[in-house]
Amino acid sequence: MELNMSMKHLMTSVMAGGLALMMTLPAQARDFRLGLITPPPHRWTQAAEAFAEDVKQKSGGEHSIAVFPSQQLGNEAQMVQQLQTGALDMAFLTVAEISNRVPDFGALYAPYLVENIDQAAALLKSEAATDLLSQLPSEAGLVGVGYGMAGLRQVMSRDKLEGPADLEGKKLRITPFEPIRDFYKATGAAPTPMPLPAVYDALANGQIDAIDMDFDSILIFKFYDRSDKMLISNHMMFPMVGVVSGRVWKDLSKDDRELLKTSMRAQLDAVIDHFQALEKKQEQELRGLNITISEANKDDFADAITEWEKIWAPKAPSLPNLRKAVAEIKGS
Ligand code: BEZ
Repeated sequence: MELNMSMKHLMTSVMAGGLALMMTLPAQARDFRLGLITPPPHRWTQAAEAFAEDVKQKSGGEHSIAVFPSQQLGNEAQMVQQLQTGALDMAFLTVAEISNRVPDFGALYAPYLVENIDQAAALLKSEAATDLLSQLPSEAGLVGVGYGMAGLRQVMSRDKLEGPADLEGKKLRITPFEPIRDFYKATGAAPTPMPLPAVYDALANGQIDAIDMDFDSILIFKFYDRSDKMLISNHMMFPMVGVVSGRVWKDLSKDDRELLKTSMRAQLDAVIDHFQALEKKQEQELRGLNITISEANKDDFADAITEWEKIWAPKAPSLPNLRKAVAEIKGS
C-alpha cells in the first residue's frame, strides 16, 4: 500500500535532512538491532550473525548488532512499522512484505521470470533489480542495501499432486503477499496466507492441504513428514532484502553508512551464492527421501501465468526492465 503524500513528503525531508547532518555528525558508538523471521539454523539468520560479527570487528568494537531471529520482534509487517518509526534499526525481510507496500516489487515474482537458480542469482545482483531499491526510501521509509534469496518455489501436498490441475480447491499455504496469492488463485487453489513459523503445525493439524515452499526450508523444517507429495515446479524466485531504517540511516556518519552497506552487502551476496551452490544437492537429497515427486513447467502453468500477467503488468512497471536483464543474462 502506498504511503500518503504527507508521509512521503516527511520521509523525503527526513532523508534530505539526513544528508546534511551526515556531514557534521561525529561517529557514535551504536547498539543496533536487526530482526528477521527465520530461525537460527536458517542461512539468512547465519548471514545476519556474520554481518553483526563483521561490523563489530571492523568498527574496533565500537558498534554492536543484536540479531533477533524467529519473529522475536514480530512478523514482517510489524517489523516494517518499527523500522519506519526508527524503533528497529535493520532487518532482513522477504521481498514479499516489501511488495505489499511497493507493488512494483511484485515484478520480482513474475512466474517463470527466471528459468533456474543461476539466472535468479544473476538477476538479483543486476542493475535492473538494484534499481528497484531506490524506491524504498520515499515509498516505505527504508534504505534497501541489497538482495539475498532463498531457493526457487515448489509445491508440497498431503494428497495427490501430479500437476497444476491437482491444485484445484486445495487450501494451499502461501507467504502473505499479493503476487503469489494471485498466481495460485489463477490455478484454482485456495491460497491461505501464513508466515513460515506457523506452517509445520498448520500442516500437522490439517488446517492446510499443501504449501508453497523452497527446497531448503522443506529440508530444514522437515515439511515432508507432513506432506509427502512434491511438485517440482521452480515457478518463482524468492528474494530477500536487507534494509536499514530511513530514520536511523539519516543520523549515521558517512563512514558508518559505508561500513554497514559494505558489510551487509557482502553477507547478502554470500546468501545468494549459498543457495545457488546448494540447490542441486538439496533437490537430490529430497529425491532420495520417501516422497512422491512430479514435475511441472512454464507450459503447464500457461493459463495461470496469463491471468497473473493481466493483474501485475500494470502494477509492476519494472517488469519489462527485469525481463530485459534476464534476456541479457541468458545471452551472456
Ligand atoms: C516462506 O515464507 O516460505 C519463507 C520465508 C523466509 C525464508 C524462506 C521461506
